[in-house]
Amino acid sequence: MDPAQGLQGIYDLQINNGIVANVAPNIDTGGKNFINVHNLLVIPGLVDMHTHLREPGFEEKETVATAARAAAAGGYSSITAMPNTNPVMDSKTIVEHLTLLAMRAGLVRIWPVGAISKGSRGVELAEIEEMVRAGARAVTDDGRGVANDGLLREAMLYCKNLGIPLLEHCEDEALAGEGQMHEGQLAIRLGLPGIPAAAESAMLIRDLRLAAETGARLHVMHLSSSESVKIIRQAKADGVPVTAEVTPHHLLLTEEAVIDLDARAKMKPPLRSAADRQALCEGLRDGTIDIIATDHAPHTAAEKSRGFRDAPFGVVGLETAFPVLFTNLVRTGFLTLSSLVGKMSRNPAAILGIPHGGLAPGMAADLTIIDLKKEYILDSRIFHSRGKNTPFDGWRVYGRPVLTLVGGYPAEPFTKIFDEVLRTNGQLRNIST
Ligand code: DOR
Repeated sequence: MDPAQGLQGIYDLQINNGIVANVAPNIDTGGKNFINVHNLLVIPGLVDMHTHLREPGFEEKETVATAARAAAAGGYSSITAMPNTNPVMDSKTIVEHLTLLAMRAGLVRIWPVGAISKGSRGVELAEIEEMVRAGARAVTDDGRGVANDGLLREAMLYCKNLGIPLLEHCEDEALAGEGQMHEGQLAIRLGLPGIPAAAESAMLIRDLRLAAETGARLHVMHLSSSESVKIIRQAKADGVPVTAEVTPHHLLLTEEAVIDLDARAKMKPPLRSAADRQALCEGLRDGTIDIIATDHAPHTAAEKSRGFRDAPFGVVGLETAFPVLFTNLVRTGFLTLSSLVGKMSRNPAAILGIPHGGLAPGMAADLTIIDLKKEYILDSRIFHSRGKNTPFDGWRVYGRPVLTLVGGYPAEPFTKIFDEVLRTNGQLRNIST
C-alpha cells in the first residue's frame, strides 16, 4: 500500500541498490533474491515529525541510539530530533553534533529540528539560517510556546525565506499556569490545577494571524481541543498556510486516563474531554488535521513515579503508535487504512520537505512490513526505548511492525521477529545473496 501513489493491492516490489526500481503485479527475479511477504502489509516507512531524543543532556531518559532502535521497532524509517536537549539545539554546532550521533546510531534517518529562540527562552532568535544550512528541517521551541509576538513574527519571516515550516507548541503560559491536567470537573475532584483549552487556542489564533500576514508555513503541533480543530478548519478555508498534527494519545484517550493519578498519562497538552477527543478524530478524518505524530517524550521511571504533581509531562510513542491507531481507528471502521498510513508517512514527509513517505520508483526503499492479523499485547518492559512511560501498556492490539527497511537495508536487530512471523506464516526467506 502506498497512499502517495493511490496504490493498494497485491504487488511485487523490486529494490535495486537501495532504491525502489519497480512496483508491479508480477516481477520475475529468476527465483533469486526475493522475500515472500504474502499475508503481510508493506507500506512506506513511517515518518515521525515529533520525536524527543533527549541527547545531549538527558541520556538517562533516552539516547539517539535507543530512540533509533525504538523507531525501527515501531515501523519508523524517519524521525525528527526535537531541540529541547541540554544544551538546547539552537546553533549550527549542536545540529552538527546531533548529525554525528545520528550517523553513529544508524538504523533510521534522523532529521534535526532547531530551536526558534536561543535556549528556547523566547527572548533572542536562535541561529536559524545557520542551522538550516547545517541540515535542520524546521524550527520549534517545543515544550513551550513562543510568547513574544515580535520574536515569533521575525522567526516566521526567516522560515518563509528559508522554505522551512515553523512548528509551534501552542501554550499560553499565563493561561496554563501551574496546571497539571485538563481544566474541568475531574481536575476539581482530584484537587489538581487545570489547563484550560484556551491556553492552546489563544496562542493558536495569534499564530494564524501572523502566518497569514507573513505567508510563513505554520505547523501546529499536538492539537488537543475541539476549539482548536474548529479554528484550524476555518483558517484552512481562509487559505492560511497551516498544517496540523495530533498524537495517538489525544485521539484515543480522555482525561479519565488520569483518574487514578497515573502519571503515565500526564503530558502537555493534557488529555481533554470525550467531546474534544471526538472532534480531534473528526478533524483527522476530514483532513483538517494533516498528520499523526508521536510526541515521543521519554522520562525515567523514577521521575514518573514521583507523584502526579511532581512527575514530568510526556509519554513515549514510537513503539505503540501504529498498532494502537490501526486497532482503534481502522479496525473499528472509523478511518481507512490508507488514510492512516498517509497521515503517518506521506503527509509528514511533505511538510518536512524530505523525499520519503512513498514507494514510487526512484525513491529510497524506506518501507515497513506489518503483520495486521495477529493480536498481541503491548509490553513496555520489552521496549527498545529507555522510556517506559506509556498509557497504552497492556493494550491488546493488532498491526505489529515486523521489519523496517531504510534505503533497502533491514534494521538488523529486528530481522528475528520478521523471520519468526514468516515461519508461522509457513513462508521462507529466500535471499541467495
Ligand atoms: O508532554 C510533553 N512532553 N509535551 C511537550 O510538549 C514536551 C515533552 C517533553 O519534552 O517532555
